[in-house]
Amino acid sequence: VRILVLGAAAGGGFPQWNAASPACRRARAGDPAALPATQASIAVSTDGERWLLVNASPDLRWQIERTPALQPRRGPRSSPIAAVVLTNADVDAVAGLLTLREGTPFALYAHPTVLAILDRNPIFEVVRRDLVPRRALALDEPVAVRDAAGTPLGLTLLPFAAPGKAPLYLEGEDPVTDALTGEVLGLELRAGGRRLVYLGNCAVVSERVRARVAGADLLFMDGTLWSDDELVAAGVSEKTGRRMGHVSIDGPDGAVARLADVPLGRRILIHLNNSNPALLADSAERARLDAAGWEVARDGMEILL
Ligand code: MLT
Ligand code: MN
Repeated sequence: VRILVLGAAAGGGFPQWNAASPACRRARAGDPAALPATQASIAVSTDGERWLLVNASPDLRWQIERTPALQPRRGPRSSPIAAVVLTNADVDAVAGLLTLREGTPFALYAHPTVLAILDRNPIFEVVRRDLVPRRALALDEPVAVRDAAGTPLGLTLLPFAAPGKAPLYLEGEDPVTDALTGEVLGLELRAGGRRLVYLGNCAVVSERVRARVAGADLLFMDGTLWSDDELVAAGVSEKTGRRMGHVSIDGPDGAVARLADVPLGRRILIHLNNSNPALLADSAERARLDAAGWEVARDGMEILL
């Protein structure tokens, strides 16, 4: 199984368009310890020819243009992108669908809750339903991923409910839920006896989450924030991480502590917010992650599983 990290950052990317923080200034200045990152997505393939994208980032066009494996090889129109699976309907997970609108078939997989949000937004009709079948995922039911024509990609997808919330543009007063409503999915991907879990959005590392990820050869974990009050402390938001639907990395309930005793192959943080000091290769926080056996995803990272 080949895995490409197309984007490592949370919504907004790193640097974010309106952020003047020291870290974002370092990224703009080309500081090698503050590498820019696009919005989170990975691509997975078993044959290197046909790829499944996990989420369609707003940066997808650029991600394709710098990733030869995702570029068309047969004329006049084609794409190695055979399927896209959505973990939620946040802007940073779905906006890239609009980039895939030029009439080339692929299969689109998502939970019915997310498909209903797309159905209600007519702009997504530019992704033509006659070419791009929208396939509903059921929680805890494995499916063989197939392209639009029905040919299997050799990947089995097992979606499960992750603690999280509805997208920002649809949320109510107290949106975070551990209910099994399908707003946010964790994805287990299996191929050739290997198991990868993608959990780029996760509000709480519950016992259910711990059990779900245990034993995976590779975990991509929600690394949005280092600490729960990071955005409040930076004076850029009144929201805690928990309120935003993201468990923090640090702290007694954080991802590192809560997953410390869970057996895993590689553990990689993804979907890092531009405020997160772990984005900086020379930070004390990054050194702590190294010592704890955690990696931080970066754009262009390639993994062979
Ligand atoms: C999130 O992950 O919390 C969202 O992407 C936030 C957003 O939509 O900006
Ligand atoms: Mn996001």
